[in-house]
Amino acid sequence: MEIIILPTPADVGRVAADLIASVVRAKPAAVLGLATGSSPLDIYRSLAARVASGDLDVSEASGFALDEYVGIPLEHPESYASVIARDVVGPLGMDPARVRVPDGRAADIEAATADYDRAIAEAGGVDIQILGIGANGHIGFNEPTSSFSSRTRIKTLAPSTREANARFFDDPDDVPTHCLTQGLGTILEARHVVLVAQGAGKADAVAAAVEGPLSAMCPGSALQLHQHATVIVDEAAASRLTLAEYYRYTYANKPAFQRFE
Ligand code: GLP
Repeated sequence: MEIIILPTPADVGRVAADLIASVVRAKPAAVLGLATGSSPLDIYRSLAARVASGDLDVSEASGFALDEYVGIPLEHPESYASVIARDVVGPLGMDPARVRVPDGRAADIEAATADYDRAIAEAGGVDIQILGIGANGHIGFNEPTSSFSSRTRIKTLAPSTREANARFFDDPDDVPTHCLTQGLGTILEARHVVLVAQGAGKADAVAAAVEGPLSAMCPGSALQLHQHATVIVDEAAASRLTLAEYYRYTYANKPAFQRFE
């Protein structure tokens, strides 16, 4: 894993956006793995600014969202289909026809989730997957005890995740109890994964994912198995990393050929 520790959340967004922009410039029809939640918002803002200034064109790229709630209408403002359309597709000028979100309303959930994994494979696989991490270590909506080889499927949300996401709903009881999420096995197939985290509330989860044992109790630790995982965090989210000085040193001394900026 490459660990990049930066002073502020805005720096995290900018450097992650640099990475994604470099992938899209090299391959305009890149397949982007899209995450929701607060963590990637600075990435999308930074990418949108580049698109607005004519510095980047994402119109040929396609996208696959990580997850979706089950049990709320598609047009609900907090469905991930709505969030991806509002925060990503519109501001980045992506082609809506090339962006998919798991169908949380499908009558046949098993068929829909199998079809989702098939669609990712048919698109050639994800070139770069954006990830946040939950305070309990979840990535996507793979809650603790998720199998490292899991595929896209229905999951029950942990009570702590429902509490964390209650801020997006009028009433905590309105937070759905179930979701569809790409599995850890699905996520690990992306060619490059970029996890971003900001704030002290993520410090334990980041430390467990990066330095803790491989454990289904911290689904983010599955990324230790990935050949190309980049973790970009601000100082607060890095505060529990025991090797923080080493990560700073290796990033500062990165060979030129490994730099993406
Ligand atoms: C959410 C999403 C995840 C996200 C995580 C952290 O519920 N399903 O994709 O990474 O939980 O959320 P946030 O970035 O808002 O802290």
